[in-house]
Amino acid sequence: MVLTLDDTKRTAIASKLADMKALQELLIANEQTFLSECSDQDICKCLQDMLEDDRKNMGILETVIVQYGVQGEPKQTTTEMIKEIHKLMEGSELTLFEKVGQHELLKHQQVMSGLLVHKAAQVVGADIEVAITPLNTVNFENRAHQEQLKGVLEILGVRELTGKNPDQGLWARVQDAVAALTGVAGSVISRADDEMNIQDVIRMDHMKVNTLFMEIAGTEDPQKIQEFFGQIYKDLTVHAKAEEQVVYPAVRPFYSDTQELYDEQAEMQVQLDEIKSLSPSSPQFKEKVSQLKEKVMDHVRQEESTMFTAIRNNCSDEQKEQLATQFKAAKSQLQTQLAASMK
Ligand SMILES: [Fe+2]
Ligand SMILES: [Fe+2]
Repeated sequence: MVLTLDDTKRTAIASKLADMKALQELLIANEQTFLSECSDQDICKCLQDMLEDDRKNMGILETVIVQYGVQGEPKQTTTEMIKEIHKLMEGSELTLFEKVGQHELLKHQQVMSGLLVHKAAQVVGADIEVAITPLNTVNFENRAHQEQLKGVLEILGVRELTGKNPDQGLWARVQDAVAALTGVAGSVISRADDEMNIQDVIRMDHMKVNTLFMEIAGTEDPQKIQEFFGQIYKDLTVHAKAEEQVVYPAVRPFYSDTQELYDEQAEMQVQLDEIKSLSPSSPQFKEKVSQLKEKVMDHVRQEESTMFTAIRNNCSDEQKEQLATQFKAAKSQLQTQLAASMK
């Protein structure tokens, strides 16, 4: 059995996440269009809040995609559908009621995609569940948006048909439903995406790789071992390079053990490539993986203890958040390079 680093299931989920990102762009564009066409103050306020949520959720989706560690392209049919709907939304054939009705269907689609990714993650691997956890926020908010849109649709529809306002029954119920949903979402959201600092994003990667090591330890199926190792190889390579590009140079002036971290990562890369040349069904494979795990976990402990302390003592909140943004961007670029080099 020859080791390959790509896995069909994981690529399919990457494509679904890319679909979600493309759809999120459409949702944002639609809401901007509605705001320019809408004259009702309450509805405008509701749409404005939704737009802000959706912009924030776009950031979360981008974080999840980087965290997931496999990049994908949206399906061609998705791209075409989005282009068609975008044209309709910008045009004047549809009434505002009809446009918002279409928008509500798209929200539904986004909710279902989010749920589907969660269900698929449960089947494929715990590491994916770890990577996509922030998607919960997006799903909860989209469900709340769906309820709000029903209220908006009632008002717009009755006005278009009768020229009169409906009684406010549904609008009030909608606000209650939204409050309930937001309560649930509130307990899920630990941090807004834009508040994540460099320690948070590094820790998320460490948790994910630890999960992958446990997944390998827990199976004897060579196919599964190959799949999990493929993900470890990609994640560790990208994580280490991004640290070397963004984090280590930033901490070097105040953290004297930085060189040690560089050296350890060079050794890890040698081990990774050595394992990559083995067959996942060979007896040495798991032994080499557990040696790698030991090394990685030592390294992780050092980063999370002394390096994090040095960062806490020497960087402002703003610097820590800026490092997180740079780290995520570096990872995204490195993932693209790595995928291209493996083709
Ligand atoms: Fe590191
Ligand atoms: Fe690290």
